[in-house]
Amino acid sequence: MRMYDIIRKKRDGEELTKEEIEFAIQGYVNGSIPDYQMSAWAMAVFLRGMTDRETADLTMAIVHTGEILDLSAIAGTKVDKHSTGGVGDKTSLVLAPLVAAAGVPVAKMSGRGLGHTGGTIDKLESIPGFSVELSQTDFIEQVNRIKMALIGQTGNLAPADKKLYALRDVTATVDTIPLIASSIMSKKIAAGADAIVLDVKTGAGAFMKTLEGSFALARAMVKIGAAVGRKTVAIVSDMDQPLGFAVGNSLEVKEAIDTLRGEGPEDLTELCLVLGSHMLMLAGAASDSQRAREQLQELIHSGKGLETFKRFVEAQGGDSRIIDDTRLLPQAKKQIPVYAQEDGYVAKIHAEEVGTCAMLLGAGRETKESTIDLAVGIVLTKKVGDPVRKGDTLCVLHVNDETRLDEVKKRMSQSIQITSERLQKQPFIYGVVT
Ligand code: URA
Repeated sequence: MRMYDIIRKKRDGEELTKEEIEFAIQGYVNGSIPDYQMSAWAMAVFLRGMTDRETADLTMAIVHTGEILDLSAIAGTKVDKHSTGGVGDKTSLVLAPLVAAAGVPVAKMSGRGLGHTGGTIDKLESIPGFSVELSQTDFIEQVNRIKMALIGQTGNLAPADKKLYALRDVTATVDTIPLIASSIMSKKIAAGADAIVLDVKTGAGAFMKTLEGSFALARAMVKIGAAVGRKTVAIVSDMDQPLGFAVGNSLEVKEAIDTLRGEGPEDLTELCLVLGSHMLMLAGAASDSQRAREQLQELIHSGKGLETFKRFVEAQGGDSRIIDDTRLLPQAKKQIPVYAQEDGYVAKIHAEEVGTCAMLLGAGRETKESTIDLAVGIVLTKKVGDPVRKGDTLCVLHVNDETRLDEVKKRMSQSIQITSERLQKQPFIYGVVT
């Protein structure tokens, strides 16, 4: 078999066999296929696409380049959840304890933030003492004991994805559905998931900006799941404006705690109930979505979800007093309001800009090597559709380093657009793909 023939076949729009896909991926990881051939192949895929069968074979070829986490020592169906990324997305911090409190094991690996999007691991590290590193044995033992553990990515999971993603990033071949779908699904499968619930974000702050593209990605991933024996459900949800109000690590932990207490923002609470219901159903812990939803609402009202969060924080070395006193989380020195310049209604809050402004304040990484400030960020005080009067606070900047404060103030006031007419509320969840 020759890589040249595989590239030519895809260039001419033909379907590759499983063996050809495995040959390309294995060869790329072991170094026998050079970057220039792999980038030509990625561009051929970009231009010609892949069939569902090819995409599923590509996913498993990527999975088999590394370790597959063995979670068989954990009783029950392991349902993982993945979000395609967004601004203010602290869903995992709420969802994981709720689902665990319903008796469904949550053995989750999460990532760090980059650019305008945040990462669950950074958020958890804002809890004093919290450790995101556990050995595989301790990870499994903790899930069996308290039903949940959440750690940073460990092991040699899907190494082909890392190498291929870096290549795609510099060859304009990132944004193509077969490569995105196989990249995301390979990591979830390698992390040991039996079933997967995906939150595909759509809108200005999302990776996929259009509804059409987001649904196409959702369908592609659900089909991969079906083809490789991992039941997968995808929700398409809004990321035109940030999720909830808080953007920034400790600020988001506080909002997650409020949500577990039943006092969270409406959009975040609703998203957690929808994603959580699908997780319970896939795990066989609820027979229909109405019952699953009621079960999750009861876990919020009874405080059992928050209790599970507390046990989880303690199990991973964190100071659980932050739950009753969130002032023990890192706090920024200054809180600076940004005011409305006119009367009207909030028409748009540009999520990507808000994420970028939080990053400029130090909450996120400009490059993988940047260090972050866990205390800083932005708390919105308005959401799209809300009425505003001139002089009202639109958001509060939580600031330590003021180097880029003027720029952030200006960009934030531009990213919250106000119109004179009230707009119709946009749907928040656009649909479910099963
Ligand atoms: N996220 C991923 O993990 N992979 C992609 O290819 C795109 C987004």
